[in-house]
Amino acid sequence: MSKLAKFSRLALTLGLGLFAIPARAQQTAPPIAAHKQTSETAHDPWWKHAVIYEIYPRSFQDSNGDGVGDINGITSRLDYLKDLGISAIWITPMYPSPLVDFGYDVADYTALDPLYGTLADFDHLLAEAKKRNVRVIMDLVPNHTSDQCSWFKESRSSRTNPKRDWYIWRDGKGPGEPPNNWQSWFGHSAWQLDPATNQYYYHHFYTEQPDLNWRNPQVRKAMYDAMRFWLDRGAAGFRLDAVSRLFEDPNLHDDPILPGKNAYGDPNIQHKYTDNLPEIHEVLREMRRVVDAYPGNPVLISEADEPNIKELTKMYGTKNDEVQLPMDFQIADVNKLSAPEFRRLLDEADHNAAHGQPEFFFSNHDQPRQWDRYGDGVHNDQIAKLMAALLLTTRQTPLMYYGEEIGMRTTPPTRKEDVQDPIGKIGWPEEKGRDGERTPMQWDNSKGSGFSTADHTWLPIPPSAAEYNVKVESGDPNSILSFYKRLLAMRQSEPGLRNGSYVSLDRDDPYVLAYLCKNPGSGDSILVVLNMSGEPRTVKLDLASLGFKGSSARTLLAAPLPEQDSMPLAQFTIAPFGVFVGSVH
Ligand code: GLC
Repeated sequence: MSKLAKFSRLALTLGLGLFAIPARAQQTAPPIAAHKQTSETAHDPWWKHAVIYEIYPRSFQDSNGDGVGDINGITSRLDYLKDLGISAIWITPMYPSPLVDFGYDVADYTALDPLYGTLADFDHLLAEAKKRNVRVIMDLVPNHTSDQCSWFKESRSSRTNPKRDWYIWRDGKGPGEPPNNWQSWFGHSAWQLDPATNQYYYHHFYTEQPDLNWRNPQVRKAMYDAMRFWLDRGAAGFRLDAVSRLFEDPNLHDDPILPGKNAYGDPNIQHKYTDNLPEIHEVLREMRRVVDAYPGNPVLISEADEPNIKELTKMYGTKNDEVQLPMDFQIADVNKLSAPEFRRLLDEADHNAAHGQPEFFFSNHDQPRQWDRYGDGVHNDQIAKLMAALLLTTRQTPLMYYGEEIGMRTTPPTRKEDVQDPIGKIGWPEEKGRDGERTPMQWDNSKGSGFSTADHTWLPIPPSAAEYNVKVESGDPNSILSFYKRLLAMRQSEPGLRNGSYVSLDRDDPYVLAYLCKNPGSGDSILVVLNMSGEPRTVKLDLASLGFKGSSARTLLAAPLPEQDSMPLAQFTIAPFGVFVGSVH
């Protein structure tokens, strides 16, 4: 989870974007293009053209009425995902867990928590997904386990236990004093004294999430075996949780102290000695070898909130032998509608020195949702379409978060006693935690929003479910959902979007982001124009210098809809927060 995500959560709680007046224009939309099946080759692997959809399993679909989502629930919604145009799902952890961090505290890496279902249910999900050509990506949590994991139980049992060295154990500096000033990402000291053996263990996240010692070869083997367990069953790869935190400075240098306090009231520190140590690349190469031994091009997606493109590029590996899709937190954390900032970051990602495939996303289970994060409080629905177009018309592999396609918003708890996420409990009221972006999927406008038949769902159904839900939006050609469907269909059917190269246009425009997805063949290229301001803007696009003969772009998709079937390139005016996608030749 990035610091900026925390910042934007704060901005949200301060009320930015919370008072939106949804305005849905009643217009008719062009028909949705049919999906075309695409084939893959070794040089053109599926994940380059995939649209990946993150599912937070607790909140997607409850099949047994206990108020918590589950595996059979996901299976029952595969047709929806297929119809939407999704090619792979990433499911956040479903392993047995005491659920301190809602699954990111894993107690057993080769089993499933009965709360979500059985291995047979999982196999059924895989089989049904395969029938629909939807791949299933697991979440792997290599940095830490739960303190209830048998490995840690053994490790903490005595200083001489064979698994002692599987975790980071150190003596305190003195009585009652932790080994150094390292802080947990989730507040307070990163060291916890274990009275049984009178040593401290290190935890980058919650106290109940002790860090594994990745310098121990047995730890590596155990984790790689766990990967094989899921690959053998048919998983299409892994999203690697918090991989930049795998190593810590063995000499335990104190981290530099920065001015001010963090959201938890601790001194601000720079995580210099616990983040991004060079040894992570050796592990990433080893993980890559594990997945590469399997057919079907399994993918590694890294959660790595790298500070700049140089660091992000390192994730691909010097020989492109590490992660195929490092998540681009630079893009995800822009947090404002700024054409120059997005242009700069799109350029950087597109020209990355590794020639790696970028991966873009805006929302996830740690990140306040884009509907309100980018919304201005008045035009949020239109801005949601703008962000959808940005995500789905670039050559990057897009990663969606469940519910963004219907304009779900961040709905944080209003009372401390309702908070589920421990970050919110520790940091209340400044840090309200991540419950707001994890609320149940809004399928329809019934009491349980079609998510569950339970009287109480694990997080409440947001009030916005009455209006923003799959059922209502499916019947509205101008809904956010219909807009996503059209974009996703176009991504499959238009060669310019599927294989095109990115050409940035009108580069000095402070408000409008314009680019071309240039068809590598002789067919039409796709022109994308996004007005990131609340005023109408006029653009003049010179495509003749790029070899295009036509003087206009044929409208494929636009919101708000334009009156014309085509737009003159020499001068066209685009509405506030308007989206135009057209074809040019
Ligand atoms: C990652 C996960 C987040 C979790 C943390 C600790 O950042 O995305 O949800 O709390 O790792 O596992």
